[in-house]
Amino acid sequence: MTHARQHTIQVVAHRGASEDAPEHTLAAYTKAIEDGADALECDVRLTADGHLVCVHDRRVNRTSNGRGAVSALELADLAALDFGSWQGGEESPDWDPARGHGPGEFTSVLTLERLLELVSDAGRRVELAIETKHPTRWAGQVEERLLQLLKRFGLDAPVAGEPSPVRVMSFSARSLHRVATAAPTLPTVYLMQFASPLLRDGRLPAGAHIAGPGIRIVRSHPRYIERLHRAGHPVHVWTVNEPEDVELCERLGVEAIITNRPKQVLSQLGRS
Ligand code: G3P
Ligand code: CA
Repeated sequence: MTHARQHTIQVVAHRGASEDAPEHTLAAYTKAIEDGADALECDVRLTADGHLVCVHDRRVNRTSNGRGAVSALELADLAALDFGSWQGGEESPDWDPARGHGPGEFTSVLTLERLLELVSDAGRRVELAIETKHPTRWAGQVEERLLQLLKRFGLDAPVAGEPSPVRVMSFSARSLHRVATAAPTLPTVYLMQFASPLLRDGRLPAGAHIAGPGIRIVRSHPRYIERLHRAGHPVHVWTVNEPEDVELCERLGVEAIITNRPKQVLSQLGRS
């Protein structure tokens, strides 16, 4: 059984408008804000000297002209690399290199701090869905740094009865538990790649408020969505790029669609 949609589906730009500009760059996020995205998704990793940067992979090889693990590089090393010249590859097989910047230009690594500034200066409400990457290895440091930074921007808790503009996402229940313990009013999203047995009755691990299933789970187990809703969990689905998947999500009444194509999804949902 499906239920009629009673709410506006939030459109979240995955790694920015990452089909139009190199992922996790200021250009990709600026474009997403211009396109009207309700929220921005970003992955965060810790550098060797303790800065949070927006990089998806463990290594910088795919998305920059450099090599090596983010955790082994300092921010100054990363800042010397060009993140607009990246190659596409397995994570983004359809990437057209022509969408990167032209020769002679340079795109620095994006720090989470810079992204928070961009959102604060957007001139309208733009939410942030921040995903902790590799939280196990760093034994709490990613979450600790993240919460420190959010606190500096006054974003570590909802303000004046408004829903929180920031949420923390992770595939790691432990990471979400750490966040929920240190910042109990910050919403958390439990990401799922495979249909977990936990989902059979719509339960999520302790500390997780929102369910974040991949679109493959939604396609093959649409009833999970109903169970999650019945258990009181909003559902944020990733990464939804195809029109038929947008339609499916709409039909199932999900609360948010995370997409590389915010402009097209907004248009399909009749919001542009
Ligand atoms: O938004 C969740 C989604 O980003 C999780 O997958 O690999 O793109 O970080 P990934
Ligand atoms: Ca992510």
